[in-house]
Amino acid sequence: MRPFVVAANWKMHKSPREAVDFLKGFLPKVSDRPKNREIIFFVPAVDLWVTQEVLRNSGVGWGAQNCHFEMKGAFTGETSPQVLAEMATPFCLVGHSERRALFHETDEETGKKVKALHQSRITPMLCVGETLSERESGKTNDVIVRQLKAGLRDRDPSQKVMIAYEPVWAIGTGKVATPEQANEAHVTLRKALIDIGGPEFATHTPILYGGSVKPENSAEIARQKEVDGFLVGGASLEIASFLPLCQTRKET
Ligand code: PGA
Repeated sequence: MRPFVVAANWKMHKSPREAVDFLKGFLPKVSDRPKNREIIFFVPAVDLWVTQEVLRNSGVGWGAQNCHFEMKGAFTGETSPQVLAEMATPFCLVGHSERRALFHETDEETGKKVKALHQSRITPMLCVGETLSERESGKTNDVIVRQLKAGLRDRDPSQKVMIAYEPVWAIGTGKVATPEQANEAHVTLRKALIDIGGPEFATHTPILYGGSVKPENSAEIARQKEVDGFLVGGASLEIASFLPLCQTRKET
């Protein structure tokens, strides 16, 4: 059975001190959570060290929001997957729409990052999603399948990946995809995962939904059969709004 994964994407929020305060306040509150529930915090790179000190052995995971695809070199300001591994980082986001739109990250680069992360034994969470104009011109499926295939092209089949479907028009806008829109995209992605890695791979790969998830809409989204969790930006910044998402029930 796939886990139900609730992941926080803190983006460029929280200093190391704020991260520690949040996590120390949060941990005791999730000691009792639904079975088969995975929680992950994608924190700013400068918070990784203190985050792993607090979360190590807690059953709650953590990860980076980005990395380079080379292990070392003249890449000022970048983070190496090898260094992430040395810091015992279990997860890393790849291809978030803000990286694609604001930092011009290409499909090809996402594929190289997934490869480099697997070489470093880190599980990538590959983000895919269409813009509003792509949706309105009927290109949603083509775009998300293209991004998925490019991202997973050079993966190591013996290692895990996670996928996050995040329609760009729903990120940070308060507009959430309807549960049906989300499920439809997830069905498309699940089928593409079968093409990429076979039924076993597709069955075991969680596909999260992201884009304005909050306590008021999480239950309805979780009810969709193919939705295996949430990737949460804004609502992950406060314990009061993130905790109910971590406790959302997945009815099967
Ligand atoms: P949001 O962000 O929940 O604030 O829409 C989601 C994301 O960017 O991962």
